[in-house]
Formats: sequence, C-alpha cells, structure tokens
Amino acid sequence: MISIKNIPISHPDAPSLVGVVLSAAEIILQIYSENFTTEYKEDREPVTIADKRSDEQIIKELQQYFPSDKILTEEHGLVIPSIKESNRLWIVDPIDGTKEFINRTGEFSVQIALAINESLSLGAVYQPTSSTLYLASENEGCWQYSSESDWKRLYVSKSFTPNLTLAISKNHPCSLGQRIHKLLGGTNQISRGGVGLKLMAIAKNEANYYINNSNKTKAWDSAAPEILFKEAGGIITDLKGNSFSYAPKDYRHKNGLVASCSNELHEKVLKLAQVYS
Ligand code: IPD
Ligand code: CA
Ligand code: CA
Repeated sequence: MISIKNIPISHPDAPSLVGVVLSAAEIILQIYSENFTTEYKEDREPVTIADKRSDEQIIKELQQYFPSDKILTEEHGLVIPSIKESNRLWIVDPIDGTKEFINRTGEFSVQIALAINESLSLGAVYQPTSSTLYLASENEGCWQYSSESDWKRLYVSKSFTPNLTLAISKNHPCSLGQRIHKLLGGTNQISRGGVGLKLMAIAKNEANYYINNSNKTKAWDSAAPEILFKEAGGIITDLKGNSFSYAPKDYRHKNGLVASCSNELHEKVLKLAQVYS
C-alpha cells in the first residue's frame, strides 16, 4: 500500500480518512488484477465483488476509528452505531464508476465524505489506478496528491479552457447536457469515469462544467466530490439550483447535478435546463 504523508489540512479526522481510502483501494486493485464476475442489483446497476469488499472494509475501519458515527454506504445503506449516535455521518461510495471498473478503463474511484449536522466537513476521492488522492476539508481548500507531484492545491479556473468544454460520462449519455452545450456554443468534451473524477477534471481546468440529468444520483455520488469541488472554488447544485441534502434518510437526489467553474456559466446552464428539461 502506498503511504501518504504531510497531509496539508488540519481536520483531525483527515489521517484516518486517508488510511481508510487507501486500504479500500488495495482491496479493489487486487480484485482488478484478477478475473471477477458482474451481478446486477434491483435497479439494474452493476455490482462486483470489489464494490462489496471495498464497502465492507470501509465500514469496518470507520467503525474502529469512529464507533459512535453513523455510516451511509451504497452497498449497505444506513449503518447505525450500537452505542449512542453522534451527529456525524460518513457517506461512502466504495467504487464510483463500477462500469469503468468492469470495462477496465482505470477511471473509477473510492469516495468518502463526512457530514456533521448534515453539512459537509471532510471528503476524499481516490483513484487507485493512478494512485491519485483528492482531499478537502471545510475552509482548508482542495488538495491533490500523487506520487509524482506531492501535494498541490487545486483552484477552479474561472476562464474557460481554449474552448468551452463539457465533462461527460462514457456510460450515461445526457441529451440535456449535449443540448445545453450546443446552445452555449461549446465544441469540446472530455469523458471521465464517475462524478468525483469529472469534477476534479474541472478543478484542473481540463473541462468547464458537468451536467447529469439522472434522477438516480445518490448522496454517495455527490458528497465527497461536492466538498472537494466547492473548496476548489466551483459551484454545484441540482438542475433546479438547489443544494443537496445530506440528511441520513434523504439520500436520493431526484433532480440531477450541475457543476460549473463559474457562477455566470452555472446560471446560464440552470436557465437552459429549466426551458429544456
Ligand atoms: C456516474 C457514477 C454514478 C451514477 C452517476 C454516473 P459515470 O458516473 O457512476 O454511480 O450514479 O449517475 O453518472 O458512469 O457516468 O461516469
Ligand atoms: Ca457512484
Ligand atoms: Ca458505486
């Protein structure tokens, strides 16, 4: 397992969180190097043994570090502590981008966030195949670590890439996004796997915005990416302009997700989404 030192944020739970994502990533990479089968859940979304084992490992370690915290994961739902509950909720996507994992594109990540009193406090997105960690805590910025570049603070650029660029999915075509991109005169698009890696592509000025009109997005898809993206200076809401809820029982986001590099672009997207949704 790689070790990551000199964490640049002072949030007391950041070192434990980094340890948890790295140990989940080790399990995922082991399975990625072997043969694995794919099953389909009730909502027809694919799931592999890697999603399940990563989910179990993350719950196990979070329970060891934080025995009174609640945990909400994609594969286990809401896990309530047996001792007195705290006002803290860990929100876990054990693999964001399972289809990318199955297709072996390398573009998947582990996403974990901590919400305190339903407000995001800490988050991490880790891409195992590139050993790249994105870490943020409230008011302490969004940071990227990779073995090649050590820690680097990310800032969303308010000026566009040479041409307005939309981050898109390889698996979930979004016709609304394509339509809005055309209406805004956009010419370029890049594909990245999962929500976190798309938002981090915007934070690195490889794209300017992302539009997802799925009514199936959940708290674990958005939580860690949201705190990272906001700390980098980006704007993220649902397609109606509302903030996401991180109440433990209200984890379904029914109105999609829009993430933009600037307020001006975000407002334009929301207006067009109102007309064309
Ligand atoms: C997303 C994630 C996620 C899902 C989103 C997708 P992808 O990334 O996989 O689990 O709920 O709606 O868009 O596959 O589009 O790159
Ligand atoms: Ca996901
Ligand atoms: Ca997942």
